[in-house]
Amino acid sequence: MSLDQPMGTVNDVPRTAPVLEVQDLRTYLYTRWGTTKAVDGVSFSLGSGETLGIVGESGSGKSMLALSLVRLTPEPAGKIVGGRVMLNGRNVLDLTDRQMREVRGKEISMILQDPQQSLNPVFSVGDQLAEAIRVHDRDLDDKLIHERSVDALKSVHVPAPERRLKNFPHQMSGGMKQRIVGAMAMAYQPQVLVADEPTTALDVTIQAQYLRLLKDLQERTGVAIIVITHDFGVIAETCDRVAVMYAGRFVEEGPVEQIFDHPRHPYTRALLESRPKVDLKSTRLQSIDGQPPSLIDLPIGCRFAARCAYAIERCLAEYPPWFEITEAHAAACWRSEEVPWPSP
Ligand SMILES: Nc1ncnc2c1ncn2[C@@H]1O[C@H](COP(=O)(O)OP(=O)(O)OP(=O)(O)O)[C@@H](O)[C@H]1O
Ligand SMILES: [Mg+2]
Repeated sequence: MSLDQPMGTVNDVPRTAPVLEVQDLRTYLYTRWGTTKAVDGVSFSLGSGETLGIVGESGSGKSMLALSLVRLTPEPAGKIVGGRVMLNGRNVLDLTDRQMREVRGKEISMILQDPQQSLNPVFSVGDQLAEAIRVHDRDLDDKLIHERSVDALKSVHVPAPERRLKNFPHQMSGGMKQRIVGAMAMAYQPQVLVADEPTTALDVTIQAQYLRLLKDLQERTGVAIIVITHDFGVIAETCDRVAVMYAGRFVEEGPVEQIFDHPRHPYTRALLESRPKVDLKSTRLQSIDGQPPSLIDLPIGCRFAARCAYAIERCLAEYPPWFEITEAHAAACWRSEEVPWPSP
């Protein structure tokens, strides 16, 4: 099937064959305390030009999911133990390390949660961009590499790019570093970009600018974007769809407006309700009563049941299947069809 062949419409948005299709992905971390099921059966698909937001509390497995997509889970603890990551119809989990290095950057790129982690303090920006370019174009001479690097910086609106190339990371602001990392990630116009959003490193204004920049790149290149965030404001501004992650699994997924207006999983509803309502500048998740279960010792039933105001016996005994609410919106909750739930 060709990429531009329509596959029906959802809410009048034409759907194309997915560029990324993740099926039942499982990534476990083997530690001396036990096996952490950081990603425990996650499935979703993403079309080109589409933006999916992944939201969930700290420790729910968002970064481990993102790292799994580019096969950069922490060594030696992290292992992708099951599932498929189909990128342009090819399972990246079957590729050799060498093939994976080719795919990374060219087909799928990742921007790490903390730009400090992506930039090496002892090399100039120019050296680091050149290295990112040489991975894919070993034969380019220095002059062409320089031109490519300048273009990459221009694409993310870095002023005075020639001068910036000589800078070292410590000479730049957090926002500028984030742009450089964006330029490196987008230098080869990958079809998929995974942005693990820094919730701490950048202030809200810089973050909004940065996300606008990514959206601008998306308009020009059609890149599919996965934005990982704690912030519903970011989701509202940038995403088409949102997936809510809890204890290693997606528990609800759907178009942004449907999730915001008609959440069908009590966890989603709790997250939305825990947003501060007055100060829209800060829409970060506030705490919900109770703790998520340990990923080392998960309950058999719904993982949210212990904190859920609506839990019934079945929720504790049996993990809920997906209930489809509309073609594009589904929730893994036994009571998703009984909405509106009474106030707790
Ligand atoms: N290097 C590691 N070794 C062992 N366990 C880890 C490692 N990194 C993360 N974990 C564990 O994996 C689980 C998922 O972590 P992950 O970083 O994916 O969460 P997250 O949703 O990205 O959280 P945050 O919102 O704080 O970034 C957590 O239980 C965490 O403690
Ligand atoms: Mg994270």
